[in-house]
Amino acid sequence: MENSLRLSTQSAQSKKLAKNAASKPKDRLVENGKSTNLRRVNVYSNERVVLQPELDISDELELNTHIQMDGLEFLKKLPSSAFTAAFFDPQYRGVLDYLGYGNEGKNRTPKRSAQIQMTDLIPKFISEISRVLMPSGHLFLWMDKFHLVTGFQNWLDETPLKSVDMVTWEKPRIGMGYRTRRKSEFLIVAQKSPARAKGVWTRHNIPDVWPERAASANGVHPKPERLQAALIEAVTNEGDIVIDPAAGTYSVMRACLSCNRNFLGCDIRG
Ligand SMILES: C[S@@+](CC[C@H](N)C(=O)[O-])C[C@H]1O[C@@H](n2cnc3c(N)ncnc32)[C@H](O)[C@@H]1O
Repeated sequence: MENSLRLSTQSAQSKKLAKNAASKPKDRLVENGKSTNLRRVNVYSNERVVLQPELDISDELELNTHIQMDGLEFLKKLPSSAFTAAFFDPQYRGVLDYLGYGNEGKNRTPKRSAQIQMTDLIPKFISEISRVLMPSGHLFLWMDKFHLVTGFQNWLDETPLKSVDMVTWEKPRIGMGYRTRRKSEFLIVAQKSPARAKGVWTRHNIPDVWPERAASANGVHPKPERLQAALIEAVTNEGDIVIDPAAGTYSVMRACLSCNRNFLGCDIRG
């Protein structure tokens, strides 16, 4: 009797929870004319307990604009343990080298292969980014398929960063590949110690496969703005400063401005 009473109370409670969840506002992911409802799911707390401190940033580093500077030099000017989120999207050579496209630069991907390559510098950038992130701050690290399958862990080994998740960006168009043709890119979510979601990650409706169109400009491929904005909203508060030391087309700046965050970043090419 007591058991059946407990069960019926539980069932009433779960019906109430389901009703509440159903009446919550829904976000929509619209891509290629298809619309998907993203139900808000309160898995963890929606209150952030990790707050960005007051920052003292050198006058030569202006917020929300393009800065032409070497990314390592830029990072060295920033205070330690200061920022809640950073993006890093290095110019990878891995895929091009691995696939051994002998004619790249002549008639295949000439603009892309003319880009400044950063592979040897990547661990130095990651080490500096981990210094400037505050405890439990996030690094969103764009990763090419070659490094994803052969290993990138050694870039994080000497830092307080740990991989905690990954998002696959699904592109609308198919690319190169001897076996499968590329249609996706990968974003590693790394977190500075202590790694935890509760009280830090406050948006719980981001799918780990994200379709979005992003146009290329002058051989630099911008990353998807709406995905980056969703991640920024998940781990920062309005007014926080998000950094990107190799900003390319400044897609992270546009993402920040779309959700009332500040951006601080540079590119060696301006
Ligand atoms: C893959 S692109 C970044 C694209 C960017 N995420 C976007 O969405 O537009 C990499 C960028 O790194 C820049 N870069 C290369 N070496 C750099 C360095 N030492 N410091 C700063 N930026 C650098 C390149 O000029 C290029 O624009």
